[in-house]
Amino acid sequence: MDNKVLPYFVSGVVVKGFGRGSKALGIPTANFPESVVNALPKDLSTGVYYGWASLHGQVYKMVASIGWNPYYKNEKKSMEVHLLHKFQNDFYGDELKVIIVGYIRPERDFSSLDKLIKEIKNDIAIAEHQLEEPVLNKLKNHDFLMTNH
Ligand SMILES: Cc1cc2nc3c(=O)[nH]c(=O)nc-3n(C[C@H](O)[C@H](O)[C@H](O)COP(=O)(O)O)c2cc1C
Repeated sequence: MDNKVLPYFVSGVVVKGFGRGSKALGIPTANFPESVVNALPKDLSTGVYYGWASLHGQVYKMVASIGWNPYYKNEKKSMEVHLLHKFQNDFYGDELKVIIVGYIRPERDFSSLDKLIKEIKNDIAIAEHQLEEPVLNKLKNHDFLMTNH
């Protein structure tokens, strides 16, 4: 995987996803609009990434999946972001800013939903750990996440 486009900065308004109940699984994801997904650089390959996100002026660690979700065989490319924080409310319509910092793995198909969830939990553990690395950790203070525009 070629990392030359990382870190990659992207922002957009949170829209409703496919609504398969990822929330009930404990891994709610925020979706970016189609226009944002279509504007992602070609060099940013599909797959699972980690990085920083800001919402309502707060910064959180995040994991993101970019692609077609082979497990669900989506026809439309999506970018779904899971923030490493428990929220009480949905935030549809709110602006989410993301810095994609590192790549974890390609998207895969799984023989069961349990296995997919287990893998996502592993992605989260990788993100938690990698983002403590000083060079990556300091990106959480980047102006892009702080300023309102
Ligand atoms: C960190 C992360 C990794 C993911 N990895 C995969 C994957 O390897 N294969 C896949 O089919 N979907 C993957 N997904 C997408 C999930 O299938 C998706 O979030 C789930 O379908 C919930 O969809 P919903 O928004 O419709 O509720 C991943 C999602 C996240 C947040």
